[in-house]
Amino acid sequence: MPIIMKTDMGIIGGGPGGYVCAIRAAQLGLKVTVIEEKTLGGTCLNVGCIPTKALFSATKLLSQTAEAKQIGLTYAPPAIDLGKLAAWKGQVVATLVGGIETLLEKNGVDVIHARGTLASEGHIALSDGSSLEAEHIVLATGSDPVQIPPFPFDHPSIWSSDDALELPEVPERLAIIGGGVIGLELATIYNRLGSHVIVVELLPEILSTVDLDRRTISTLKRALTKNGIDVLTNTAAESFEQNETGVLLRTQDGEEHVVDRILVAVGRRPRTRDLGLESCGVELDERGFVRVDDKLQTTAPNIYAIGDAVPGPMLAHKASMDGVRVAETLAGQPHVLNYDLIPQAIFTDPEIASVGLSESRAKASGSEILVGRFPFAALGKALGMREADGFFQVVANADDHRILGVQIIGAEASDLISEAAIAVQSGLTLEAIAETIHPHPTLPEGLKEAAENALGRAIHTVNR
Ligand code: NAI
Repeated sequence: MPIIMKTDMGIIGGGPGGYVCAIRAAQLGLKVTVIEEKTLGGTCLNVGCIPTKALFSATKLLSQTAEAKQIGLTYAPPAIDLGKLAAWKGQVVATLVGGIETLLEKNGVDVIHARGTLASEGHIALSDGSSLEAEHIVLATGSDPVQIPPFPFDHPSIWSSDDALELPEVPERLAIIGGGVIGLELATIYNRLGSHVIVVELLPEILSTVDLDRRTISTLKRALTKNGIDVLTNTAAESFEQNETGVLLRTQDGEEHVVDRILVAVGRRPRTRDLGLESCGVELDERGFVRVDDKLQTTAPNIYAIGDAVPGPMLAHKASMDGVRVAETLAGQPHVLNYDLIPQAIFTDPEIASVGLSESRAKASGSEILVGRFPFAALGKALGMREADGFFQVVANADDHRILGVQIIGAEASDLISEAAIAVQSGLTLEAIAETIHPHPTLPEGLKEAAENALGRAIHTVNR
């Protein structure tokens, strides 16, 4: 006789969408059960944001020590203990996963480690043979790396991003297929570890899925080249052949590149197959994403979907906000989220972060705009950090000076963007930033000066 458990909300998937939804729903008084087949924390904690950022910071140290001789500090060339580095990264992940377990427990959320599939309306079948009866079901199943047939992930020379983050080795020559966010973040890490990296991008431009201005992209491309990363655009990776000299990567233009490993980072696709969705009337779109309405409700009653499983940016913080929205909506506190205002941070060298409209999108919308910029090279703090590359850019409405978007390329851009996110989300004006006293010497002064520059009154740059 199968065991049947009952809950108010059954969440399939314990990543940043699912676990955040669970905690918020529990805070609002619902009895919640999370079903997770692997490890809590999902892609972000286990094979995404967190391990990438741990390796980003560790390898930044490597590049800093290599450059330190320019300022009179000399070290012996650092030796890399890959096993120790991977173990440390694993500890960072384990600490955070443990934190989530504790948070769920303290909030009274039940966690079932099993695979869950929809059995019928209001029922989730579990791989341990039991079943869960839930008044509301939330699908938070996330996404997987896309595999392209000529480059199967089960071949030892072909890596997915999951494989690359395991740090199995530092290949002398690494080809990365896909000049998107994941491709360029891993290019940065492996370049700093010592690989000669070549990025092969199908489209005419890198990072083309992100709303970034040409000036930002060209600043990044210059830095990639300076760091020794080769970027080939308008180039489709076609096939490969393993021989005794290495791996021969062939591109559609007939070129051949000899490398040691190939990393495929050509996008992610929603994990929505084999979940029993069809049997419950949950429809998918043509790309496999769950169709949802503006409350994230699927085409089936009482079933919601969030995060990478639904159309929209595949970002952990967006998934978490989706989770909060569903929890609050079900508790009678509808929550509105403007998806145009989700900030994004890209961990390349230099970092890129953005929120709201780019200059080109703002222009295309037909609005009269003001644009202000300020270079990192004019910030005392940045020069003292030897981080002179990059700039701040603020775009605002010309009539009421409301800030529409901010792009930052430069050191710590990922941390600097949050002040801009508040400004854009709250409809603040250029004056609000320009007239707020920012401590000196700090990097956020760059945002203040960019706002002043848009108003024609920056102090530390020439206002044109
Ligand atoms: P992506 O869509 O950003 O980039 C994939 C790139 O691969 C595209 O530029 C595409 O044109 C190219 N491509 C496809 N087939 C190709 C071929 N045969 N040869 C050469 N190039 C080819 O996807 P990515 O980088 O895998 O990231 C997946 C998702 O995860 C994205 O939505 C991304 O925003 C998100 N993500 C965001 C992060 C962040 O914000 N820091 C970090 C990691 C992932």
